[in-house]
Amino acid sequence: MKSAIPDAFRQPAPSGTVPAKTSVERPEFRGPVHYGTLPLPTRYLLSPLAGFTTLPFRRIVRNIGGVGLATTDLVNCRALLSQNARTMQMIETHAEDQPFAVQIFGSEPEFMVQAAQYLEARDVATIDINMGCPVNRIAGAGSGAGMMCSTTSTIELVRQVVDSVRIPVSVKMRLGWDEDNLTAPFFAREFEQVGVCAIAIHGRTREQGFSGSVSRPGIRKVVEAVENIPVVGNGDVRSVEDAAVMIRETGCHAVSIGRAALANPWIFRQLDEWERTGQYSPAGTFEERLNLMLTQFEYVEQQHPTERAIILFRKMAHWYLKGMRIRKKLRGDFQYVKTKDEFQKALARIRAEGPVGGNRSGVLTDAHIPVPSGPVSKW
Ligand SMILES: Cc1cc2nc3c(=O)[nH]c(=O)nc-3n(C[C@H](O)[C@H](O)[C@H](O)COP(=O)(O)O)c2cc1C
Repeated sequence: MKSAIPDAFRQPAPSGTVPAKTSVERPEFRGPVHYGTLPLPTRYLLSPLAGFTTLPFRRIVRNIGGVGLATTDLVNCRALLSQNARTMQMIETHAEDQPFAVQIFGSEPEFMVQAAQYLEARDVATIDINMGCPVNRIAGAGSGAGMMCSTTSTIELVRQVVDSVRIPVSVKMRLGWDEDNLTAPFFAREFEQVGVCAIAIHGRTREQGFSGSVSRPGIRKVVEAVENIPVVGNGDVRSVEDAAVMIRETGCHAVSIGRAALANPWIFRQLDEWERTGQYSPAGTFEERLNLMLTQFEYVEQQHPTERAIILFRKMAHWYLKGMRIRKKLRGDFQYVKTKDEFQKALARIRAEGPVGGNRSGVLTDAHIPVPSGPVSKW
């Protein structure tokens, strides 16, 4: 499907607005990161954010550069095996989206094994098992973070998945169910023994949900628990400075970034540049963000007819426009556009008015991505 966005609609970033490079002291980096036999181009990974880290967004961050690995949203292994249309779309990839992992969840070993074999047959580079999702629908059914509540069956499930495929299998988990059950170091050690290629660890417990702060000492214990496999530190990394602290204090081999990538899709390129040179270039300007938004919309259009693409793009557009400090009324108007013509006119108004405060250099607001709130037992 050819995009109807005229090239003239894209505009170059104005010159003279780009601040100089910033320096941040580098920690001691571990060696290059490998998932089994799969080398990752960088140690900076895109953490899955269901509904946001779709193929169009993954292509955006990949094209900017610096991404070591990107993962799909969590995919129900049974829905995958029944070839559910929405699930099949979730595992869609592109030549630009490599290497790429599919994250699966489930509590029944036979279906997890079949799903892993199916993905291997589709040439997926690596599989990630979700052991961190805190929401009741998943954790309450013994998948996601619920897997941290049973030891023997969880290790056995992971072993069976690892043994059933030749591609590397990683696990993403939290520190434990709650403060009294910080089982991640134990599981990490056991998983390494059954052949898991890497552990990604979000430094909160299930009970914490997204509240409180990430425990870097907790992540460090996971790093210390394994012998050879890489550990990916995750949680609240919003900048190069945060990544430096994460690596310095935990000793992790790699860092994964979720919410901050939506606010700053340049973060992976900044991190990679910083690791190589000690300095990094600024995030994109207002115009560059607007161009990214248009490009991402074109990618959605490549998957869906235009008017469906406009509806599907609303959620993402909201975050782009918020990150660009667009006035609330214009952001709201954008949510009602239905046709390509309306889409272009709304964007033309946004481009003409620019950000609140008028600064087009691309300085970020702190865009808060919605997370479930209230008592975690009710999620
Ligand atoms: C909206 C949203 C959706 C998420 N979806 C997933 C998911 O599908 N799989 C997963 O392993 N983690 C998921 N997470 C957790 C993130 O991958 C990550 O571990 C967490 O947000 C902490 O990292 P961050 O502070 O860099 O965002 C999600 C988080 C949010 C906020």
